[in-house]
Amino acid sequence: MKGFKIMLVLLVIIALPLTASAQKAKTIDELAKMFDSSGCKSCHAEIYSQWEKSHHARPLMGVKGGLMLTPLATKGATAFSPDDPKKATLKNFPCFKCHLPQAVTSAEDSVAVELAEALLAKDSAKVAKLQITCIVCHNNKAIIHKRELGEPEKGVLYGSKNVDAHGDKTFTKVKKSAIMHESVFCGQCHGQGPNLEFDQAFQCANLYGSYMHAYIPAGGTQTCQDCHMKKGDHLIAPNFNDDKATSELLAKAINLDVQTIGYEWLRKAATYVPKIVVETKITTTAGHRIPDG
Ligand code: HEC
Ligand code: HEC
Ligand code: HEC
Ligand code: HEC
Ligand code: HEC
Repeated sequence: MKGFKIMLVLLVIIALPLTASAQKAKTIDELAKMFDSSGCKSCHAEIYSQWEKSHHARPLMGVKGGLMLTPLATKGATAFSPDDPKKATLKNFPCFKCHLPQAVTSAEDSVAVELAEALLAKDSAKVAKLQITCIVCHNNKAIIHKRELGEPEKGVLYGSKNVDAHGDKTFTKVKKSAIMHESVFCGQCHGQGPNLEFDQAFQCANLYGSYMHAYIPAGGTQTCQDCHMKKGDHLIAPNFNDDKATSELLAKAINLDVQTIGYEWLRKAATYVPKIVVETKITTTAGHRIPDG
């Protein structure tokens, strides 16, 4: 009997880590399915179609379909690149911290191998399956004070209010998030400076640092959402794949004020040297440096 008990305890100990890892995705398809938001489309059609065109829907595709993580899969191209794509682990892609945070919490190293191989094979269709979906923002990234409020719950979305009976089959509840309307929500991924926590520090987006240390101290009062998500717009422009709209946004945002004065300098009798003084002042209406990243 005693032997049986010990066996049972051993079994439980062995089974625990197995079930924990069983919850993680082993393939790109499994990871995409875990965070699949296509079910939101039927009821939130407008938001869905805005999101689909946004950079958040293609965080590993860069601008105009570029596979910008390719150097990380290419031997010798970066300090992070593995010698062989078959040996890639999540650690070879520190970019996941912001470009695909669900990989950090919910993927096995085998996903990194599959991604490295897909990047080298230029398999855009496969890479495009990895997105910052509705669930990433409205669940995983919706709580930052986890000691006080706990981890985001399964089957719960977070928004601006409580919805006790939410129509979705999996996410049957919406709870009020403390940060959804705050700039710090975006700041989780939009960068404060160099990422010093890695064994090889590097820098990407820094815009939240600029917002916090330049815009706010200069008297700025608006949040990222105030400027970028008017009426809940989930395109969260600019969309750099749309040249026309991007130029229009920039034309509105950047003001170039030029003052000139032309004169002739009487250097010596009967010698007039033409001179011009140009004073330029470039200002923007952005709440941070542009461009960034
Ligand atoms: C069957 C229809 C249906 C589906 C499917 C659905 N929703 Fe909703 N959702 C609603 C309705 C209706 C409301 C508004 C409820 C209210 O105002 O009382 C809502 C509210 C919300 C809110 C809260 C709105 C706020 O003001 O903060 C969020 C966030 C949300 N849904 C996200 C999602 C996401 C993400 C998905 C997909 C995983 C999804 N919904 C799927 C119908 C749906
Ligand atoms: C701190 C979060 C963060 C980390 C870590 C991060 N990025 Fe980014 N990255 C962003 C954000 C946010 C943007 C878009 C906004 C911007 O440019 O300000 C971006 C933009 C980019 C762009 C330019 C835009 C585009 O779509 O082509 C490239 C390329 C890029 N990242 C590559 C990388 C690579 C490679 C890594 C890993 C070595 C990485 N990033 C790590 C947050 C991050
Ligand atoms: C990059 C993060 C991000 C993604 C991705 C995202 N949302 Fe949101 N969503 C937000 C934020 C932030 C707000 C609050 C905006 C504000 O302050 O006005 C919001 C607001 C909402 C609301 C509340 C109503 C409104 O218009 O303000 C609904 C409903 C919603 N989102 C549904 C969705 C659905 C459905 C998807 C996927 C198609 C999605 N969201 C993808 C960040 C995100
Ligand atoms: C989960 C991480 C994450 C969150 C949260 C997030 N972003 Fe992003 N955002 C990114 C990444 C990564 C990109 C770049 C994708 C690419 O490479 O094209 C991006 C792109 C953008 C872009 C397009 C311009 C560009 O340089 O690519 C804008 C604008 C933007 N985000 C604003 C916001 C705002 C405003 C919020 C908060 C409401 C927010 N983001 C929340 C990760 C995030
Ligand atoms: C006062 C309004 C305002 C605030 C606040 C604001 N932005 Fe912007 N943002 C702009 C304008 C204007 C532009 C430039 C025009 C354009 O390209 O849309 C811009 C551009 C961007 C870009 C593109 C950068 C590039 O490389 O061209 C990103 C990403 C972005 N904002 C994210 C954010 C985030 C994240 C926050 C909060 C930390 C934020 N913004 C706060 C107005 C604002």
